[in-house]
Amino acid sequence: MIIAKNQSELSAAIAALKNENPSAKVGFVPTMGALHPGHMTLIANARQQTDIVVCSIFVNPTQFNNPKDLETYPRTIDADKELLLRNGCNILLLPDFDSVYPNGVLNYEIDLGGIDKHMEGAFRPGHFKGVCMVVERFFEMVKPEIAFFGLKDFQQLAVIKKMVQVKRLPVTIVGVPIARAESGLALSSRNALLSDTEKEEAALIHKALLSGMNRYKETVDAMAIRSKIESEFLNSSLTVEYISFVDNNTLQEVNKVDANTTVCIVVYCGNVRLIDNMQFSEAK
Ligand code: PAF
Repeated sequence: MIIAKNQSELSAAIAALKNENPSAKVGFVPTMGALHPGHMTLIANARQQTDIVVCSIFVNPTQFNNPKDLETYPRTIDADKELLLRNGCNILLLPDFDSVYPNGVLNYEIDLGGIDKHMEGAFRPGHFKGVCMVVERFFEMVKPEIAFFGLKDFQQLAVIKKMVQVKRLPVTIVGVPIARAESGLALSSRNALLSDTEKEEAALIHKALLSGMNRYKETVDAMAIRSKIESEFLNSSLTVEYISFVDNNTLQEVNKVDANTTVCIVVYCGNVRLIDNMQFSEAK
């Protein structure tokens, strides 16, 4: 695995690999590190669908609205390198701030047609602006044919797809299903901040979503399903920040649930903010 720290090292690494296979397709997996098996499903998808797999690790300050969150975000670079090597990543892009933002953080505006305004957009002001800024910059640096994002960040995936459409960027975006621990807890870099007991408690998020899916067998009323999900947290130490029922395409809140609806949830376990979702098309 080649480690590239800036644009010139990255371009040289891609050129060297393309020299061996001129028609090689570049697949890109952007991350903020603290890699886990969920990220490795992104790498595996990139390996299946492309020839040169580039993974970036960069804890992007412009997408954090809470300085404490940025400070405590888990950083495990040695283990990350090891994991990427074992999983067949070809190039690790490990840039510093100046390589990503050579002219500093410039004003960035994009009209995403409102899909960025609620849920994460409302609770983390400026978050999606920072995500779009960094992802667009990485697309410019890596020039991937396909980029892979986890479905755990459901709204982020929709935002990136919309950004690509609005900016007419020549890249295909692929969403990869959520990877879960045996307990059902969605794999996340932030899980590294949880104790073993908290991890057990946090498994309730998945259970609550499943119980929402069960309620859907009896009613399509979003309020009734929300009440069922909320009731699962009554005797727990977890605090629900929001539960939203959204249309898969527009991401607008719906009152009646159908197979095109996703329930998105954010829960605090201590100080750790955990995000998850489930699509009603998966209800059994
Ligand atoms: O999902 C993430 O880890 C980040 O938001 C991303 C896409 C790598 C941009 O910093």
